[in-house]
Amino acid sequence: MAKEKFSEGQQGGALDRVDGKQKVTGAAKYAAEYKIPGLTFAVLVESTIAKGLIKNINTKKAENAPGVLTVIYHGNAPKIPGYQTGDNPAKPPTGGEPFRVFQNARIYFAGQPIAVVVADTYERALYAATLVKTVYNEDEHRTSVEANKDKAALPSGPRFADYVRGEANAYKNAPVKIEAEYIIPVEVHNPMELHATTAFWEGEDKVTVYEKTQGVKSTQKSIMDAFKLKEQNVQVNADFVGGGFGSALRTWPHVIAAVLAAKKINKPVKLVLTRSQMFTMVGYRPYSWQKIGLGATPDGKLTGLTHEAISETSTYEEFTERTVDISKMMYGCSNVNTSYKIIALDKSTPTWMRGPGEATGAYALECAIDELSYALNIDPVELRIKNHADIDPQRNLPWSSKYLKECYQKGADAIGWNKRNPKPHSMRDGEWQLGYGMGSGPFGASRGRATVKAILLANGSLVLQSAVSDSGPGTATSMVGIATEAFGLPPNKITFELGDSSLPPGPTQGGSTTTSTLGSAVHDVCVALQQKMAELAVTKEGSVLKNAKPEDLVFAKGFITLKNDAFKKVAYADVLKQNNLSELEVTKDSQAGDERNKYSMYSFAVHFVQVLVQPLTGVVRIKKVVTAADAGKIINLKTAGSQIMGGVVSGIGMALMEDGVFDHRFGRIVTNNLADYHVPVSADVPHIQALFIDKPDPVINPMGSKGLGEIANVGFAAAVANAVYHATGKRIRELPITPDKLLG
Ligand code: MOS
Repeated sequence: MAKEKFSEGQQGGALDRVDGKQKVTGAAKYAAEYKIPGLTFAVLVESTIAKGLIKNINTKKAENAPGVLTVIYHGNAPKIPGYQTGDNPAKPPTGGEPFRVFQNARIYFAGQPIAVVVADTYERALYAATLVKTVYNEDEHRTSVEANKDKAALPSGPRFADYVRGEANAYKNAPVKIEAEYIIPVEVHNPMELHATTAFWEGEDKVTVYEKTQGVKSTQKSIMDAFKLKEQNVQVNADFVGGGFGSALRTWPHVIAAVLAAKKINKPVKLVLTRSQMFTMVGYRPYSWQKIGLGATPDGKLTGLTHEAISETSTYEEFTERTVDISKMMYGCSNVNTSYKIIALDKSTPTWMRGPGEATGAYALECAIDELSYALNIDPVELRIKNHADIDPQRNLPWSSKYLKECYQKGADAIGWNKRNPKPHSMRDGEWQLGYGMGSGPFGASRGRATVKAILLANGSLVLQSAVSDSGPGTATSMVGIATEAFGLPPNKITFELGDSSLPPGPTQGGSTTTSTLGSAVHDVCVALQQKMAELAVTKEGSVLKNAKPEDLVFAKGFITLKNDAFKKVAYADVLKQNNLSELEVTKDSQAGDERNKYSMYSFAVHFVQVLVQPLTGVVRIKKVVTAADAGKIINLKTAGSQIMGGVVSGIGMALMEDGVFDHRFGRIVTNNLADYHVPVSADVPHIQALFIDKPDPVINPMGSKGLGEIANVGFAAAVANAVYHATGKRIRELPITPDKLLG
């Protein structure tokens, strides 16, 4: 990819991906690709009803089918020790009790795993699974948010209490006001790689699992808790992960089912979800209804903002999102009130999906701001700048860094915003209606805890290790980039090892925090290793650096050099040699201080799009995308640019295609395959220009980097909806914006 595509004069590095060749040639191995001797194959049987009890389940035919090794269901399942003591094998998102696979006859959702069939081949397991016959006592189910709004309730805990700043519903008395409702349907992550688990036991109390997971340590912990095993006896490997977007943040029931089956038959078991099972067993972005009220003075100063949201969870767990939180901090407005409620439905538990909460909230808020801009007859970019929050109005704290105004400017220049005729339905491109739209959004930037081990080898190369997974963004590459600068060694001499739970503990990859959290630990361990080398170099008899002060040493390009005498230098490898060491090793645990109590830390992005709408067919095409991001210091321009592209592509899906349609009569999702559930393909994706402010945040971490994965998506669907309005004069407030809605 050409470097100039991302922008001019950027400081960030642009290392090629260290694993790029493995990924594009197919050499990279995913969880379902380990050919373990004696491997057997597991297929899940699913509930066909949404709520009730299994009255009878007949597994005899399946058990007698050729090649079948076992059929496990609630009637014969070995007890899972962690389930008995009440330990949660997979921590619930914010409340409730995780679903306990095969432990009782209760049905909580359609598509629930009710049995697992294991056979010597996949085909035999798949066939035998069709022979399991189940009779249910069916109860009446509820799966619709719209039909059950009266049952919406506050989630548990103070975080979700109704929020008021100033006067509630002040918008109602404003000289200019708008009020609108917005709907986002269920959306499903659908990473390319299917969720898969390959598990084998060595004896009674030791198990190895190849798993699609965004956190090898969190998966390890879940399995430890479920099966009451010691940490060193649960080995989780995730060498490569083919996308997650949040679906691989939790340890789902099918993982426990595979580990259980492997234990029962004492053979390696591989369980791969089918694409349709990916729609019910690994979470989804919950359906949401939102209402926004905005009031302003005629010159565009916001005087009231009200944001209400209703979303869904399962009956057994409470899943919540910060859907309305964006409205508390995005704009300077002294009268803000928000409310967030959820409805417990007979569905599987939703989960975090790219930009969780913020992507949902930003869709409504950023469409509403656009609606207000037309009501006021003020340019949408100008309206946002007028209401820019100079400090965090929710916490009354300064931002650690904020270059949102620069993002508006950079993005507007690049899309050619000044060529836009502000009047809706006024521009054309041939026979197509042309529209310009924009949307923006924040995502909290934070730094968690990580441990990294650094080993300097005799040949002067550096190995770094931490138990994290890379679900796609290129974690090892970014870490090599950080170490290159922090340690003073060319990138081709640095290796970053991950995907193995036995390495020093690293964070789960989620919430746009990996670079901040893990990168800080990489930085800190590199500095600690330099200190150790310096001690050796200045104390060793015969060293040219003998008696030098450590603070006078410079570490660069694999040499320690005396600051004022470039001839006095020692190669890193020679430090080891002089001290008869085969390697030098440091492990460093690293975490944030109390910065977050003094500052509000967020990344910001502004998305600009041009859309074309075919007036006769209602087809929407995205013509051009410019995303300008303030994500602090950019560690790697290539991987950062790819993050933006990925987020924008998912945003195109969210805006125009993705629709988890439920048939509420049966409580079942009907668009449970990639023929009916549409996602963007290459032909739907135009040129995407990613622009970065690339200024370091002085507070958050030693690199000055903020998060990037979520802001690539947050606010994008609103930009498209706003552009469609500009092109056509039609305001579509329910995603996705499909031709039927535009023609209707
Ligand atoms: Mo992401 S929803 O933090 O995987």
